[in-house]
Amino acid sequence: MKQTNKKRILVTGGAGFIGSNLVDRLINDERSVVVIDNLSTGNVNFVSPIALFYQQDICDYEVLEKIFETHSFDYVFHLAAQISVPDSVKNPNYDAEINIMGTLNLLKLSVKYGIKKFIFSSTGGAIYGDNAPIPTAEDYCPHPISPYAISKLACEKYIEFYSQYHSLDYTILRYANVYGPRQTPKGEAGVVAIFTENMVNKKNIIIYGDGLQVRDFVHVYDVVDANILAMNKGSREIINISTNKKTDINTLYELMKRKTNYERAPIYNEKRDGDVKVSLLSNEKAKKVLEWQPKFDLEEGVKNTIEWYRTSV
Ligand SMILES: NC(=O)c1ccc[n+]([C@@H]2O[C@H](COP(=O)([O-])OP(=O)(O)OC[C@H]3O[C@@H](n4cnc5c(N)ncnc54)[C@H](O)[C@@H]3O)[C@@H](O)[C@H]2O)c1
Repeated sequence: MKQTNKKRILVTGGAGFIGSNLVDRLINDERSVVVIDNLSTGNVNFVSPIALFYQQDICDYEVLEKIFETHSFDYVFHLAAQISVPDSVKNPNYDAEINIMGTLNLLKLSVKYGIKKFIFSSTGGAIYGDNAPIPTAEDYCPHPISPYAISKLACEKYIEFYSQYHSLDYTILRYANVYGPRQTPKGEAGVVAIFTENMVNKKNIIIYGDGLQVRDFVHVYDVVDANILAMNKGSREIINISTNKKTDINTLYELMKRKTNYERAPIYNEKRDGDVKVSLLSNEKAKKVLEWQPKFDLEEGVKNTIEWYRTSV
């Protein structure tokens, strides 16, 4: 009889933008994948039919425990989260309930059911705050300025606690601004997705602030690669996943305008609360520890995102 040596993997938030791309890759690598997602922002059509899907909330400990009991996971990729910075500013309790309490449920169960590794999606784009040295390396002490970033930092600290006191192995990946296929333009984050939808459909483009705010855009397929590498590397490390390339929003607008033949001028609105002015992350550690590096440059990545939008939405 043929022996299967499939690793059992849980992906929370596996119906979301990054999570569903990760699930596709894991399935492609012939892994056995379980997805938990409450579909608050995710899309069930993005979930690979080969994965086992539970439409459940990570805040429901009893339901989570039944799933852990049934599947004996080897790896947990934890991506489910409330991801809107403006929503976290409006309602910090809601953000904390999902991002902190939900994460604690998963940590507790990961220890109880003896998983091999917990791989956490954190934020480098929001966690370091406004006055960080540029490019920002992982050893800079974070100064989060939004409840979303505060909750992500709290999760990191809880993960370190669980590692220290319960020997849980982990890797924390701090992403820069992720973009690419399946990112929703419906939220208030995801400027590439929002510009794509509005430019392709010839709607107005709104830029918050003066458009000179700098971001570090990393393609979702590169982020997926980093997660896969983290299964075997980067034990007990916090690692930025970024391009270390500066792009301001006005430059992004000009690039995407060319790619979509968009003709309108942008409308400038007031800066939003909680948005940092400059975010640029060093990726030296990712290169060294994960042996990872980004494959997509912004021009190619934006082209790939627009093509996906035109053919799939
Ligand atoms: N997109 C980025 O630029 C970026 C940057 C840094 C970090 N991250 C992190 O990466 C992860 C994935 O983000 P994304 O951009 O794919 O967002 P997303 O909103 O597409 O994915 C999040 C998923 O989690 C699910 N979810 C939310 N609350 C849940 C709950 N209580 N129970 C179960 N499922 C729940 C949503 O339905 C969604 O499918 C998040 O943890 C986010 O904080 C994203």
